Amino acid sequence: MPRVFHLSDIHVGSSHFLPELLERAIEAIAHERPDLVVLAGDLTDKGLPHQYAEAKRWIDRIPAPVLITPGNHDSRNVGYVHFEELFGPRYRIHRLPGVYFVAADSSEPDLDEGRIGRTIYPWIEEAFNRAPEAAIRVFVTHHHLLPVPGAGRERNILQDAGDMLKLLVDHGVDLVLTGHKHVPWVWRFEEMLIVNAGTATTNRVRGKGQPSYAVIEFAPGAITVHQRYFGLRPDETFVHPLRKGAIPR
Ligand SMILES: [Fe+2]
Ligand SMILES: [Fe+2]
Repeated sequence: MPRVFHLSDIHVGSSHFLPELLERAIEAIAHERPDLVVLAGDLTDKGLPHQYAEAKRWIDRIPAPVLITPGNHDSRNVGYVHFEELFGPRYRIHRLPGVYFVAADSSEPDLDEGRIGRTIYPWIEEAFNRAPEAAIRVFVTHHHLLPVPGAGRERNILQDAGDMLKLLVDHGVDLVLTGHKHVPWVWRFEEMLIVNAGTATTNRVRGKGQPSYAVIEFAPGAITVHQRYFGLRPDETFVHPLRKGAIPR
């Protein structure tokens, strides 16, 4: 059954960046042997060329295919041009047997707020319309679509979160993978599971939070999410029933 390793907000180049945790995350990926690593943005701290170069050196060591979307920090200082040069398109589709991913950039240059934007909706709709009927549908973006508890004042939720939630529900999306708040959380919304990754490799956490990543398993009838905290606190597991007709192979 397909497995995905979901991490976000590694913030290479930040004074909060903890390289030893990125080493441990890479070791965990080698141990878990996921079919795909989803890196949900904020690879860098300020989108600067040397930070992108360092992030690229780290990401090249990940022993699995990686699907990356930029975060608000990556679009600072026109950093999205480095993103495109090093990691490819900011909007993309990735296919695993039985699981279909659509990733979209939610960042705006030099703004912390996120937005997908109406001009992108037709591309997302068309992408999901082309998904095999039985495939699990996954949407990846940086900014969160629902408020996250324990994350302080709500400021940077997707500006068009309402329209995006409706679009995703209307297109039978099963799973949404986001980051940004540095707080891991799981929401169920209609038949959709929304998994917010914490920061994997920084000490820029909130309250008594700890760095974390998620391992997501697709099995007939269910998606299982394991939130892992590098042994700093007990792991947490969530099981979400899959809509009828979604069959991972
Ligand atoms: Fe971040
Ligand atoms: Fe962010």
